[in-house]
Amino acid sequence: MHMHKFEKVWLIFGIGALLVFLTVLGVSAFYLGNQPPSCLATIDPEKVDTTAPFNEPGLKKVEGKEWDYELVFVAQAFAYTPGDVQVPLGAKVKIIATTKDVIHGFEVAGTNINMMVEPGYISEHITTFDKTGEYLILCNEYCGTGHHMMTSKIEVVE
Ligand code: CUA
Repeated sequence: MHMHKFEKVWLIFGIGALLVFLTVLGVSAFYLGNQPPSCLATIDPEKVDTTAPFNEPGLKKVEGKEWDYELVFVAQAFAYTPGDVQVPLGAKVKIIATTKDVIHGFEVAGTNINMMVEPGYISEHITTFDKTGEYLILCNEYCGTGHHMMTSKIEVVE
């Protein structure tokens, strides 16, 4: 079978690109352990206030886990609880959030932390703050008339 030279080049390029893509995906998933967020943890959105750990929002030191602290947030229109929290510099923190009413966002400005907070589900993100200062948390899912006022703050202190 005769194949035009350009056709061959294009075929090799296509197969090569596919192999590169699959390799990157494979290394990312199996070697680096990257996975899409699970959303496997569920909660009754009407019982958030009485369900641990959301009955006590805020920062808590934990022992015997991969992370040093758990930082629990409850979102509701149009605020987060806590509204302001201090986190020690360099600590490994697991952020755990849920909402009592509608879908909210949980974006920590200036970082790669950006979660959707959905009623009935628990969103989690493990992070380390390695710079002191104030980090603004804001809602980036339109949730109603007070959406633009929905913020909280993380203060990273030594
Ligand atoms: Cu909460 Cu927008």
